[in-house]
Amino acid sequence: MPATVIVGAQWGDEGKGKIVDLLARHSDVVCRYQGGPNAGHTIVLDGDVYKLHHVPSGILYPGTVCVVAAGCVVDPGLLVRELDELEERGVSTDAVRLSGNAHLIMPWHVAIDSASERRLGTLQIGTTKRGIGPAYADKAARLGIRVQDILDAKILRQKFETALAEKNVVLERVYRAEPLAVEELAERMESLAARLRPYVADTSLLVERALKDGRRVLLEGAQGTLLDLDHGTYPFVTSSNPVAGAAATGVGIGPTRIDAVLGVAKAYVTRVGAGPFPTEMPPREQERVRELGAEFGTTTGRERRCGWLDLVALRFAVRVNGITSLALTKLDVLSQFDEIPVCVAYRLRDGTETAEFPAHQSDFHHAEPVYEVLPGWREPLDGVAALDGLPAAARRYVAFAEEALDVEVTLVGTGAERERVLARTPLAGAARA
Ligand code: GDP
Ligand code: IMO
Ligand code: MG
Repeated sequence: MPATVIVGAQWGDEGKGKIVDLLARHSDVVCRYQGGPNAGHTIVLDGDVYKLHHVPSGILYPGTVCVVAAGCVVDPGLLVRELDELEERGVSTDAVRLSGNAHLIMPWHVAIDSASERRLGTLQIGTTKRGIGPAYADKAARLGIRVQDILDAKILRQKFETALAEKNVVLERVYRAEPLAVEELAERMESLAARLRPYVADTSLLVERALKDGRRVLLEGAQGTLLDLDHGTYPFVTSSNPVAGAAATGVGIGPTRIDAVLGVAKAYVTRVGAGPFPTEMPPREQERVRELGAEFGTTTGRERRCGWLDLVALRFAVRVNGITSLALTKLDVLSQFDEIPVCVAYRLRDGTETAEFPAHQSDFHHAEPVYEVLPGWREPLDGVAALDGLPAAARRYVAFAEEALDVEVTLVGTGAERERVLARTPLAGAARA
């Protein structure tokens, strides 16, 4: 049984958590392949809101194995807090598995993330300040501390000593920040390590065995395609690879094990943090959409910037991920508009138009959206029970996107609750259209 990737197709917060939760009902393993506590995936179930940062969005189904894979970075304090909060709410975390190869976010990573943003001033990226960039940088520099290091207190302490000998110099001399004490850190980490040890597993082997046994495996991305370190809007990106191709690397399985990629896109676009955003709305319209769509960051509470659906960027996401079907979320949020602009091309500085995502960042920075204006439907979608029950203009909106992208929209979101989704095929097969 091959695995399915679920990938954000815009700048994050597309509603991945809700879609993964929905499909997890028919899955045995849900595996997060990159990112860390910069992610905030929301699931709304019977009015209860769950905001997941580290833990995969299959956790609400008892028995579903939830893997935090090797490609992730883990903040031990935040993970323990998240596990404790889930347990307090009656959600068992017994089936969580943590790759020993995932890297740990340490206090110096968080301190350096904040200090580096401060130093950048007006050029700052607007990171979540969770230490993501510095942790992945240390991983690439082969200076990282990994989850498996918590299995041996002596080794862990040695690694702290080695790391802090350098990091304290950087903190004090470069960023004028407070140094960290080895003793204090080792003590605090020992209790966290004791709590996390039972979750550590060989997750590459676990996923491979599950696939061989014919179990259904979902690979959940964090962030979104345009925040991808290699293919996104660099430098305004995160420090890992959300794109679907990275799922195999992040988990430790071969790419031949994956045969379906479900892209998740909002019916409009949002972005948190700095960086170019061609279809960004004027402030009054942004406020309206922000209000209607509750567009505030799940992790940082920041206002999300809002824009109209950008089919140029979305076609790019279809390409770089090999998206085989799409979930279009939050269509209900657009129910208040008489007319809805959709970006079909970019006008470049030389006056030419292109429907392809610019390869050079300066072209993208200066790209002006070319809109086609579609009629709105002006009625709530609350009572709609099937895709063909959508108002005609809403159906046209979805069909317009499908035609432009040459991909079928198999799921349409009409509300935050788990059941507020319209599916083209039975859900058990929705990701594998
Ligand atoms: P993620 O990071 O991709 O999982 O997305 P977030 O959870 O950060 O943000 C998506 C927000 O939209 C959350 O508050 C969800 O509860 C909400 N949401 C998801 N799908 C829908 C939908 O179809 N309609 C509405 N109104 N809200 C939705
Ligand atoms: P989910 O998984 C939206 C953004 C930050 C910033 C940039 C770099 O919920 O979709 P980082 O802390 O990763 O170094 O910040 O990436 N960002 C997100 N934006 N949703 C997310 O996650 C994000 N994770 C990071 O706002 O612009
Ligand atoms: Mg989010």
